[in-house]
Amino acid sequence: MEDLRGKTAFVTGGASGLGLGIAKACAGEGMNVVVADLRERAIEEALPQIDAPRLGVKLDTSNRENYKKAADEAEARFGKIHVLVNNAGIACAAGPLWAVSPEDTDFALRVNTVGILNGIQEIVPRMLEHGQGGYVVSTASKAGIIPVPGCGLYNMTKQSVVAIMETLASDLPEGYGAAVFCPGPFVTNLGRSDAEIEMELRGSPSRRPAPPDGASPPPPPPADVDFSRIMRDPAEAGLRVVRGIKRGDLYIFTHAEFKPGYEQRAGAILRAFPADEPYDGFPRVFGMLVNNPIFDRQAQVPAFG
Ligand SMILES: NC(=O)c1ccc[n+]([C@@H]2O[C@H](COP(=O)([O-])OP(=O)(O)OC[C@H]3O[C@@H](n4cnc5c(N)ncnc54)[C@H](O)[C@@H]3O)[C@@H](O)[C@H]2O)c1
Repeated sequence: MEDLRGKTAFVTGGASGLGLGIAKACAGEGMNVVVADLRERAIEEALPQIDAPRLGVKLDTSNRENYKKAADEAEARFGKIHVLVNNAGIACAAGPLWAVSPEDTDFALRVNTVGILNGIQEIVPRMLEHGQGGYVVSTASKAGIIPVPGCGLYNMTKQSVVAIMETLASDLPEGYGAAVFCPGPFVTNLGRSDAEIEMELRGSPSRRPAPPDGASPPPPPPADVDFSRIMRDPAEAGLRVVRGIKRGDLYIFTHAEFKPGYEQRAGAILRAFPADEPYDGFPRVFGMLVNNPIFDRQAQVPAFG
């Protein structure tokens, strides 16, 4: 989607952190911006920072009826939605999967996975109906491609977002596209805003398992490390997302440091295939199982700047 000017972006979790960075970058492209977030006070603080025709809507992405109302409000104001950014998410209770509670498991799936599906199911049909083209970006995480030990709920939900977006990209017609945004660490309110979200949606904070005996906080970074190159500014995330939409990317990554870790994972998967000679009759019968052409469409991404 090369020309975003005059089009409308609907950004969930748009009142803070990465979502706000994305909302500002969309404004920078001349788009109308809908900031959809559960936290009203955060919306009020965010809106003046967005230099564009803008609308704040209170939305719980995990609530389907709520979603319909928010999408109706956005269309009433701007007519059509062209870009959906499913960005709202929570950090999830940490701990080994056998120790997290069933309630925390349901809540992680509800916000981080079902919330994304609700956006797709409510807004993509509207985008298809207007016929002007569109793009859907969903925020996963680097945990969606390299799981972080001890963060099973987060890994599970973020890998589900990767699968959802790869499938959406496979299914959308010409003129429409989908990307999964897999950021590394950014300076946001993740973790802090979770407490407010949890109190509003379930009336209590998640029960975080106690750290293992002897666990201590990580040591401070060495003096010669530029921490801003590790924990980055959400403005950069916004620019990367907008660039990905304009280029038609399927994957939007932020930190080149994760490439070797992904190569390690891909290598492990490749090594695990049986050494048997593949049967050439298989792709002739079930071609759609052995190959998906969307992967060939991901182009080399130039350096940022
Ligand atoms: N910050 C990071 O380092 C990082 C890294 C990888 C992925 N992410 C992902 O980025 C996304 C944005 O997080 P962030 O880091 O900007 O955090 P943030 O807390 O600053 O922003 C998240 C926003 O989402 C909103 N939100 C949460 N649940 C919601 C719901 N059910 N309905 C509507 N709004 C809801 C919150 O109110 C908040 O304003 C999340 O999906 C997170 O998992 C963050």
